[in-house]
Amino acid sequence: MKILVTGGTGYIGSHTVLSLQEAGHDVVVIDNLANSSSESLQRVAGLTGKQAAFHHTDLLDEPAVDAVFGQHDIDAVIHFAGLKAVGESVHEPVKYYYNNLVGTLNLIRAMDRHGVRSIVFSSSATVYGAHNAVPYVEKMEIGATNPYGRTKEQIEDILSDLGAADSRWNIALLRYFNPVGAHPSGRIGEDPQGIPNNLVPFIAQVAVGRREKLMVFGGDYDTPDGTCLRDYIHVVDLAEGHVAALNHIAGKAGVYRWNLGSGTGSSVLEVLRSFEKALGTSIPYEITGRRPGDLPAFWADATSAMADLSWSTTRSLDQMCEDHWRWQKNNPNGYAG
Ligand code: WQD
Repeated sequence: MKILVTGGTGYIGSHTVLSLQEAGHDVVVIDNLANSSSESLQRVAGLTGKQAAFHHTDLLDEPAVDAVFGQHDIDAVIHFAGLKAVGESVHEPVKYYYNNLVGTLNLIRAMDRHGVRSIVFSSSATVYGAHNAVPYVEKMEIGATNPYGRTKEQIEDILSDLGAADSRWNIALLRYFNPVGAHPSGRIGEDPQGIPNNLVPFIAQVAVGRREKLMVFGGDYDTPDGTCLRDYIHVVDLAEGHVAALNHIAGKAGVYRWNLGSGTGSSVLEVLRSFEKALGTSIPYEITGRRPGDLPAFWADATSAMADLSWSTTRSLDQMCEDHWRWQKNNPNGYAG
């Protein structure tokens, strides 16, 4: 099939483009390059021997989005494009609501005009909010606690309402947990702009000498070692989960929700130790105060994806850290290097 990937030059997007091409699909990418580099697609082409068609386009430019559908005979869409920094969303909520919601509505309207009604949406575990018991299960009541998470929740609502109103649509909502790692080639990986918000890219930048030390946000939680637990998932496992979801919904009308996670929680210090194992030496860190908004522990109930998609994570935390380190070591300054 020919698959349009919005946000396809980004971290998860570029890994998904690679998995799609390895599965025999042709790929078209739309990306505004606000938080990524088109170099990632060149690297993917070097790995697969296939060049994805790339449109430097913003989903807020509705005529340009429509033109992409006019130029390519798209069969389905995987929708990653959107702003995704929790902290920034708290300070600039309107920017997040406008970009993520209007961009998605423009995409959906263009799809409908061109008879493309199969979509896999990049949602997030953050929609589960703070009120749910762990492990998170898809049927739970959701309730995000920050503007970024609420945009994900509202897009899920938009797509759920669309699926209820028009049975021609095939819709997969994928709630993923904490993506880390990189393709084992070390040629593509996570390349955050500015100071990394997330744990593993920050550790990687300490390891490669770009940051002085890791600040561990809180060592006094009610967890085995006092640091927060999260469900880390290898980005290649995550990409393969998107391909599995795409295949599952092909020709199947309706709205489907799946957690993409390992089903286990790992602590900040466990991740740090695993990364040190990959690096071969210790990484300086300091335990500081808690980060506002952090939950002590959450991880996925991953049974539905296994049952429905025959998909589960296959790569360990050590593999995630080895692959993440190989990418960072080979690309100390990311794609800019
Ligand atoms: C993990 C743990 C931090 C950085 C976020 C988004 C979520 C999803 C994944 C998009 C926490 C600790 C972190 C650091 C630290 N993104 N930490 N020092 O917060 O679980 O999830 O990213 O969908 O929506 O909320 O991930 O990597 O930021 O934090 O101690 O420098 O690492 O306190 O316990 P998080 P994270």
